[in-house]
Amino acid sequence: MSHAEDPQGTRRDFLYFATAGAGAVVAGAAVWPLVNQMNPSADVQALSSIRVDVSAVEEGTQLTVKWLGKPVFIRKRTPDEIEQAKAVDVSSLTDPNAENANLPAGAPATDENRAMQGAEEWLVMIGVCTHLGCVPLGNAGDFGGWFCPCHGSHYDTAGRIRKGPAPRNLAVPVARFDGDTTLVLG
Ligand code: FES
Repeated sequence: MSHAEDPQGTRRDFLYFATAGAGAVVAGAAVWPLVNQMNPSADVQALSSIRVDVSAVEEGTQLTVKWLGKPVFIRKRTPDEIEQAKAVDVSSLTDPNAENANLPAGAPATDENRAMQGAEEWLVMIGVCTHLGCVPLGNAGDFGGWFCPCHGSHYDTAGRIRKGPAPRNLAVPVARFDGDTTLVLG
């Protein structure tokens, strides 16, 4: 059975706690404890740049790492998800700005400008709702991307706000690939 046919088995999110050299993987993403965002520990604050091995992330799944006290979603998108995101007219978006720290301010929110450059299957975003800071759920919502249950914000498969009170697209942090399977944040 492929992962596409096995929503319960493999299409789930993972929570990964990045620490100074060791990590623990916990299956299932839930609400990020607010205390973690408010009081990042000293070792986490010191990690202004981290390297993440994404080789085990399967298409249609997401890895969540903690970086600078915040969750970062690292999603390997399916061709369908990419196609859906590309089909959207940017001028119809609530936030037409790419909100991508790797691009000049004001770059349009095309799918190309939201995804990793040269590796469009990868979408890397700060996992904090732009409304009031909850952690949206993956593989959810009316647009097949993320859903924030706090007040009902729906994000599409490029992490762009499409419905609900959130004012901006999920932020894309400074990120680059070092080789095919190592993502560098910061
Ligand atoms: S915090 Fe996400 S909808 Fe309000």
